[in-house]
Amino acid sequence: MLADERSYQERRIAISAEQASSKKKEAQPAVSPVMEKIVSLSKRRGYVFQSSEIYGGLNGCWDYGPLGVELLRNIKEQWWQAMTYREDIEGIDASILMHPRVWEASGHVANFTDPMVDCKECKARFRADQIEDAPCGSPAYKGRKAVKCQAEGKFTDARQFNLMFKTFVGPVEDSTSVVYLRPETAQGIYVNFLNVMSASRQRPPFGIAQIGKAFRNEINTKNFLFRTREFEQMEMQFFVKPGSDEQWFSYWKDQRLDWFLRLGIRKEKLRFHRHEADKLAHYAKDAFDIEYDFPFGWGEIEGIHNRTDYDLSRHEEFSGKSLKYFDEQSKEKYTPFIIETSAGASRSFMAFLTDAYREEEAPTADGKTETRVVLGLHPKLAPLKAAVFPLVNRDGMPEIARSIEAAIRPHFRVFYDESGAVGRRYRRQDEAGTPYCITVDSQSLEDRTVTVRERDSMRQERVSADRTVEYLRDRLSGALDGRQ
Ligand code: GAP
Repeated sequence: MLADERSYQERRIAISAEQASSKKKEAQPAVSPVMEKIVSLSKRRGYVFQSSEIYGGLNGCWDYGPLGVELLRNIKEQWWQAMTYREDIEGIDASILMHPRVWEASGHVANFTDPMVDCKECKARFRADQIEDAPCGSPAYKGRKAVKCQAEGKFTDARQFNLMFKTFVGPVEDSTSVVYLRPETAQGIYVNFLNVMSASRQRPPFGIAQIGKAFRNEINTKNFLFRTREFEQMEMQFFVKPGSDEQWFSYWKDQRLDWFLRLGIRKEKLRFHRHEADKLAHYAKDAFDIEYDFPFGWGEIEGIHNRTDYDLSRHEEFSGKSLKYFDEQSKEKYTPFIIETSAGASRSFMAFLTDAYREEEAPTADGKTETRVVLGLHPKLAPLKAAVFPLVNRDGMPEIARSIEAAIRPHFRVFYDESGAVGRRYRRQDEAGTPYCITVDSQSLEDRTVTVRERDSMRQERVSADRTVEYLRDRLSGALDGRQ
């Protein structure tokens, strides 16, 4: 029966093969220059650092820096608001470690695998379906491709490698104490279906949402945050009466694409990829990926799946507890179908960051032009909402600027900067993605107004120094910039 789960794997393989072939068609360089710039900006501005960098790093793991953690939190907060600030969805936060039977029921123990091959010569390990682009693992063969080693018969046969991280509960490390770091957050929702339904008095159609870490021991990590070993998911499982599933599937598909669009991702950079019938997981009646056009090619950022009654049926079978719902009104008993929306928080982060990055020509104070790097993040996602500058460090300007900063700080993340020419300070904030810069100048001393400069248009307007909090609140609520 578990062999059915292979289709989950087939799906992974199909997608990576598709990505590899689309990359080939477009003749993408191994590391895109834009991607390199984004990785470099991420480090320079404190968005993302390599994990354990002073020890040489740990492959497939990344740390979010001071600005990165704010962006990530803002993405998750926007998702949480969109998904749970409604009467038909409840939130939970399940533990990462779960009873090992959960992963037997879900099929992950038997089948959550990737095909793996080893090079007998250099001992490097590759995903069998991703050899095409991979470089040889030995520094002795610089520039050589792994396919060449494969053609020379240096590879072992493909073996299935389980992607779940295994550990032990308690002091004894034997088979009875094995547990896994969850490879998806979804199962924590399924096993709490009855608890949530009775505690919150919900009835189908209703959903349960969760944001949390997931872990996969990916054979090949790649493309910055795209495929990592530790990442965060934002998943929602919507329980519906069989027969109403197609309608809900279509509803959630639209809602989820719209969420990315409302937060500023360009329409032409997003697309749906429908899983062909022969590539669908056996339990899935229908499945769409939302893909983003990354510098290295189209890649999945979220999956929307009609999972039928598979999950609850499996947990019913393995736990021995009935997970059916009895509808008092119609006197019908049924196992709800599940419509899943499964987004990667880290992949969404990368899509928002990539989409926001741009370089453009901008005028300088002396009438020339220079290239400015801008992170045009939606103001709701921007890590810092405003920066406050005194034009010069005298005549009482720093004091006024400090008092404005103090007024804003309880409400929004704000940055105070008095170092360097004001033009440089604007550029630093453009690169950090800060939507508004507030400058105290000589006119401020006379009439207590300040200039507010908007990041994208670079337009400036004068605003009362005493009304900067209201000004930011109006703009950030989306009411005035029309971006809601
Ligand atoms: N519960 C269904 C599920 O987990 P999935 O397509 O395997 O489905 C859902 O994963 C989302 O999780 C993906 O769309 C992606 O955004 C994110 N994701 C999956 N594996 C990842 C990895 N190794 N690194 C970063 N994000 C990943």
